[in-house]
Amino acid sequence: MPAQETWQEFASAAARHASKLHLSSVTGKMRGVHRCVRERHPAVHRIALALYDSESGLLKTFADSGTELDGCSCRLQDAPCLVEIAERGEAQVLDDLESKVTPALRRGGRPDGERYRSTLTLPLRQENRLLGFLFFDSHDSGAFPEQVVADLLPSGHLIGMIVIQELSAIQMLVGGLRLASEFAHVRDLETGAHLDRMARYARLIARELAPSHGLSDEYVEHVFLFAALHDIGKVGVPDRILLKPGRLDDEERELMREHVAVGVQMAERLIGEFGLANFANIDMLRNIVSAHHERMNGGGYPLGLAGAAIPLEARIVATADVFDAIVCSRSYKPAWTLDLAFEEIVRMSGDHLYPPAVTALVDCRPEVEAIYNRYQETPPH
Ligand SMILES: [Fe+2]
Ligand SMILES: [Fe+2]
Repeated sequence: MPAQETWQEFASAAARHASKLHLSSVTGKMRGVHRCVRERHPAVHRIALALYDSESGLLKTFADSGTELDGCSCRLQDAPCLVEIAERGEAQVLDDLESKVTPALRRGGRPDGERYRSTLTLPLRQENRLLGFLFFDSHDSGAFPEQVVADLLPSGHLIGMIVIQELSAIQMLVGGLRLASEFAHVRDLETGAHLDRMARYARLIARELAPSHGLSDEYVEHVFLFAALHDIGKVGVPDRILLKPGRLDDEERELMREHVAVGVQMAERLIGEFGLANFANIDMLRNIVSAHHERMNGGGYPLGLAGAAIPLEARIVATADVFDAIVCSRSYKPAWTLDLAFEEIVRMSGDHLYPPAVTALVDCRPEVEAIYNRYQETPPH
């Protein structure tokens, strides 16, 4: 490492790399910073990020600078050394993190040569809230002596800032849209509990499809974040249609279908207002809102897209949404049992829904039941 370079120069080079990549996702930015870090520290073989979900107590892999699809999660409680790092709020070097500390979080069974033998771990916090951890991983043992740690910390903080900035922008957007969505649902029988459940079913499906469809952890999390926003356009549907018991006539059905176009307009406006137009995954939101009523056989709306022309995230969300709609009671139908709902969704596979997404949901039945039991409607008061 050239001794005359100060860490400030190094950090600003890393920042330049990151800003050149402003069109990319967190993963892309991490790759940029990683390239820069590796020029000085070739022993840093990967930078990885895991996010903490305080609601479930789970720590989940989110992005890494390589092409590994870890897709792993563990309870933070089960990783005492990470709990300690979170409490102390300071970076720490851990040797052989994979085997000793968090085997559940790291993919097990890697060939010996590919194992990460030492790790510099940084807690990511925002206003006393733990957001997750950043890991600098090396296949070599003892790759992080004090001097290297001092040199890497600025890049770590830079990635932390990128992540916090992107996540808070996305969370604000999702918060705003979700609020709008719940306002829309105040008027009909689709409740916040429906959104909670269907977003989680969508995440399960995306997770199951990840290996065969090459989906990253980041993709899976964005399916979850954006799924609940599929019907934001219902805010524009008149009450007489939204609340009508029984079937809609042709003209009413046309007006109901307008919720897709209204939703797309709302999403575009908010994307503009939150400055998220360049955010790499924002097309997923557009696709979910615009294509969640398309059908595999081309019989859906608004465009009559068929098969692979329907964006994958919309196919995933449609499956989760339709399944929850079958289970729930609506103004025009009573609630169905889970058994019947599973039968019905299998019947819809192919013509209406994407078969691998249906299979994924069926395969996750125990988790589907847990979500169904946990997110029940709160009775009206
Ligand atoms: Fe819809
Ligand atoms: Fe829905």
